[in-house]
Amino acid sequence: MSRLRIYSESGELLEDISSPEEIAKKLEEIGVLFERWAANKPLRENPSDEEIIEAYKHEIDKLIDKYGFQSYDVIAMTPDHPKKEELRQKFLKEHTHSDFEVRYFVYGDGVFYLHPNDKVYILHCTAGDLISVPPNTKHWFDMGENPNFKCIRLFTTPEGWVAEYTGSDIAEKFPKYEEVVND
Ligand SMILES: [Fe+2]
Repeated sequence: MSRLRIYSESGELLEDISSPEEIAKKLEEIGVLFERWAANKPLRENPSDEEIIEAYKHEIDKLIDKYGFQSYDVIAMTPDHPKKEELRQKFLKEHTHSDFEVRYFVYGDGVFYLHPNDKVYILHCTAGDLISVPPNTKHWFDMGENPNFKCIRLFTTPEGWVAEYTGSDIAEKFPKYEEVVND
């Protein structure tokens, strides 16, 4: 189940929210879109990327209309991915992008850490969650030691999501994926 915990920068837990409606409201305050999506028809086991896109086309089109996304794709991470550790480390340091970071979790999960002000928002995303982090919002992401998820991504520019690292070590001070999902 999705869960949002809000911490002070020094690591004090301020809020702990599990209701998707409440999570959406809290994240809206910082400009982050959070939605729960449903497929427009049941997906068979191991659907192709095309079938996944087709099943969520109604939701994707709404976002394209609203934000002008130009392209989208489907990515998967598996526990046997040869570069899983390298990729994990790449997203684990605080960074920004000039583009939105939009992820819809078709299955599996991941943990987003948003640092838009003097608080850190830790969002455990699970299947059915859509998160859209606006441009230039400081954040990082942890997919854990054995990542296992499939996501739809949307982009306004193909090169816009290249990470610009802030150089901060704040990510090291907060619980990692394993701790967040097991707590
Ligand atoms: Fe990012």
